[in-house]
Amino acid sequence: MTKNTPPVLRVEDVSVKFVRRTGTRKFFGIGEKEIFTAVNRVSFDVPAGKTVGLVGESGCGKSTLGRAILRLQSIDSGKIFCGDEEISRFPGARMPLPLRRKIQMIFQNPYASLNPRQTVFNILSEPLEIHFPKMTVRERADEVVALLEQVGLNADHRLRYPHEFSGGQRQRIAIARALAVKPELIVCDEPVSALDVSVQAQIVALLKKIQAATGVAYLFVAHDLAVVEDLSDFVLVMRRGEIVERGTPQEVYGSPKADYTKMLLAAVPRV
Ligand SMILES: Nc1ncnc2c1ncn2[C@@H]1O[C@H](COP(=O)(O)OP(=O)(O)O)[C@@H](O)[C@H]1O
Ligand SMILES: [Mg+2]
Repeated sequence: MTKNTPPVLRVEDVSVKFVRRTGTRKFFGIGEKEIFTAVNRVSFDVPAGKTVGLVGESGCGKSTLGRAILRLQSIDSGKIFCGDEEISRFPGARMPLPLRRKIQMIFQNPYASLNPRQTVFNILSEPLEIHFPKMTVRERADEVVALLEQVGLNADHRLRYPHEFSGGQRQRIAIARALAVKPELIVCDEPVSALDVSVQAQIVALLKKIQAATGVAYLFVAHDLAVVEDLSDFVLVMRRGEIVERGTPQEVYGSPKADYTKMLLAAVPRV
């Protein structure tokens, strides 16, 4: 990789605002409105093959930012780049397929993010059909098995439905689906928050192994600093829509500057 390789993701001064209706006065259907800034002038890069941890309390705007990167949420100002391409100029549904392939997302709740009526085979072969239409049926079938093995499942699992799996296994299926299209970045939105602690460690270890094997980059979102510490090359701390601290894990955990980071660190159970 040369020095001039652009980051896989560049978020430049991005804001997302929501209009909220407040109060109870509603004369002729007109309520009071307030503008709520869920993401406030956020900038950061994710270099190719690296992991950036994004940490902050529930409601601080992490998922809104993740959805904006995926173009599932429009932005009010700023720019988002994937490599050299400015993706923020595309409304979500209009993002060209080759660009959409590059950034995938996995969600906190693998129960909700997998279609309960599809077999694992269909869940994994659908993105292959969409993004690699030249693949033969046979190649696709082989690829589904390879994906299952990559996430620690096996060929027999392909004929089952999501409800037949545990939470951790379901998250493995969601990871396989994200990997199917060979993304450059996966936005992992609290992928382990809903799992038991022992399973959390397994999924984190799996994500690391996959990164070592494929070079995929992660934006790893968590509400708890402990989760991202040994996973991240760089850490962002978010509060009320703003990045209040950024640095390497050594900097952020070793000598935090923001009072907010110190408070979050004080809440982390240390062993
Ligand atoms: N579609 C929406 N309309 C209005 N407010 C929203 C919408 N989506 C999120 N919010 C608000 O934006 C804030 C940030 O939410 P979110 O990004 O989900 O936070 P986090 O993922 O950090 O818990 C919250 O106050 C939430 O209520
Ligand atoms: Mg969230």
